[in-house]
Amino acid sequence: MNAVIRGTGAYTPEKVLTNADFEKIVDTSDEWIVTRTGIKERRIISESETNSDLCLRAGQNALDMAGISAADLDMIIVGTVTPDYNLPSTAAVVQEKLGAANSAAFDVVAACAGFLHGLSIAHGFIVNGNIRRALVIGSEVLSRFTDYSDRSTCVLFGDGAGAVVVEAEDGAAPNGSGVLSSYLKADGTKTELLWIPAGGSTKPLDENNIKSRERYITMSGNEIYKLAVRSMCDAALKALDKAGVSTDEISWLIPHQANIRIIEGVAKRLKIPDQKVFLNIEKYGNTSAASVPIALDEANRKGLLKKGDYILMVAFGGGLTWGASLVRW
Ligand code: UT7
Repeated sequence: MNAVIRGTGAYTPEKVLTNADFEKIVDTSDEWIVTRTGIKERRIISESETNSDLCLRAGQNALDMAGISAADLDMIIVGTVTPDYNLPSTAAVVQEKLGAANSAAFDVVAACAGFLHGLSIAHGFIVNGNIRRALVIGSEVLSRFTDYSDRSTCVLFGDGAGAVVVEAEDGAAPNGSGVLSSYLKADGTKTELLWIPAGGSTKPLDENNIKSRERYITMSGNEIYKLAVRSMCDAALKALDKAGVSTDEISWLIPHQANIRIIEGVAKRLKIPDQKVFLNIEKYGNTSAASVPIALDEANRKGLLKKGDYILMVAFGGGLTWGASLVRW
């Protein structure tokens, strides 16, 4: 049994914040942002939209491409750290909005690696014969947790959602299309390098922590940077090794879009040439769990992914969490 990606989808909000916009808000420059990160603009959710609205649009696009209806889904997984509510899961809200009455629904909290964790879970449920069809979404509204007075983080983040429909294929050859392998890892000793200190049950929001801006994302960018390159390479090699595929067989590397220099560093270490690395960071910035599925959908809709291609997806983020998945298209 294989778990095959039947459809991809994405949705990003209409509102665009450019680097020129940030020059008016904080002490920064287009030149700094582009050379240090590769980001030119990012999408920002409107006041009336929610995370689950982004999920709905991306998820529906993926269902349309797969040619199945929401009622056919057995499971909805949303990777997110910016849920609609603490309770219930965003996936449960999405289930209602999609009308996916026959599915289980839950969120996965693994920051920028959330989509790859979700994909790996769906893969496991499918190959074990427990379910046939899953909708895996990565979706974030980071703008609502971004401190727009902190130039070291605010220029980085954007909002959006990406999704895939994964379906069981009976009797498929083990080396046929589908998810071939995943590798997931965490290091909870470095939580405070990238986190939102207040707003959970440890430190519920109050006047003091709102004033001290602890409700926003704080990040030790430089330390995260170094760990990201090392960990993403390690995860990529472990996922490849599990599947018995070498780096030179890869057709596309679809990495988490956090920083163009991180991506270049990973590709260089893995000896994957630039033309096989999919990039869209300049348009969306870092959308955390949404970045890999948005990039996958864009590559797919551009017709870049051919049957039989090996696609390597890799991500790193808060937790710390990281991982890689290898898919045969
Ligand atoms: O998605 C999950 C994982 N997240 C990541 O992977 C992000 C990882 N980190 C990064 O991408 C990079 O570390 C950043 C883009 C966040 C920062 O780039 P950097 O090259 O590591 O810069 P830095 O933090 O070492 O800062 C260099 C300088 C500092 O000034 P001084 O102390 O050298 O005078 C900063 O204050 O750049 C300054 N700076 C800025 N200058 C203009 C920081 N942010 C800005 C800014 N505009 N927006």
